[in-house]
Amino acid sequence: MSTVDQYGVFGHPVQHSLSPFIHAMFARETGQELAYRPYEVTAQQFPERVAEFFAQGGKGLNITLPHKIAAVEVAHELTARAAHAAAVNTLAAKGDGILGDNTDGAGLVRDLCDNLGLVITRRRLLILGAGGATRGILAPLLGLEPALVMVANRTPERAEALAAAFADLGATQGVAFEFIGEQPFDLIINATSASLSGEMPPLPDGALGPQTVCYDLAYGRNATAFVRWAKERGCARALQGLGMLVEQAAESFRLWRGVRPATTRVMDALRERAGGAYA
Ligand code: ATR
Repeated sequence: MSTVDQYGVFGHPVQHSLSPFIHAMFARETGQELAYRPYEVTAQQFPERVAEFFAQGGKGLNITLPHKIAAVEVAHELTARAAHAAAVNTLAAKGDGILGDNTDGAGLVRDLCDNLGLVITRRRLLILGAGGATRGILAPLLGLEPALVMVANRTPERAEALAAAFADLGATQGVAFEFIGEQPFDLIINATSASLSGEMPPLPDGALGPQTVCYDLAYGRNATAFVRWAKERGCARALQGLGMLVEQAAESFRLWRGVRPATTRVMDALRERAGGAYA
């Protein structure tokens, strides 16, 4: 067994994950010695491979698609934010057990507030989609006390159920796309998986005004369908979720190593590596 602490990311597919690059850079920049590898793991193998990793002395894992919900079951203990999200993106060895955390929401809030300088308090927010990604970001966003978080979804019952589940944390409303209304939002977050297939949820044009910031949780080398749609309609800014990716990784690194790495240089390096993509 190597003396260097072992970390990694479990996903399927995982070969395009940027996490090994990000964590290697965090380790260099903070002077930490560790190994971080991608592991291709199918849904069927997942529980066994996690148990094996930690039994062999592994210190921590990032969990990406499609395992974030299954990871709740393999954890022996959950942080409050992971329990709220009902999804886990970070596992850490803790005593004889495994701690499950979710740093996605905190990563988004960091990117929105610290990197982009957005004000969320008393602003009107619209989230598109009511799946696992939305569940993971609702509590941290509501914690910033926006005037309203409207959740719009193709299947409206899912949006209504999510809004009701988080109603005690702030003003939420779940609707179908056709009931979004014509009053512009300050921030629209795309949390659907529609971007992955190049599709765009059917939004009323009035939801977007010149002050609206649009943020896609997805990211890619080319602008996503949502980012293109937003730019064509003259929004204030349209951004992809690369910043959230780096910030959630920094939160995971802090949980594992007790030190939070700076993120600006990693973000610059990723943009440079992609030759100006991820715009
Ligand atoms: P995730 O964990 O990534 O959120 P999910 O739980 O499968 O994945 O949720 C995917 C979300 O994208 C859902 O809100 C889904 O809408 P439905 O609940 O109606 O299925 C949404 N979605 C996926 N493809 C879409 C499309 N082409 N147009 C609009 N919404 C879409």
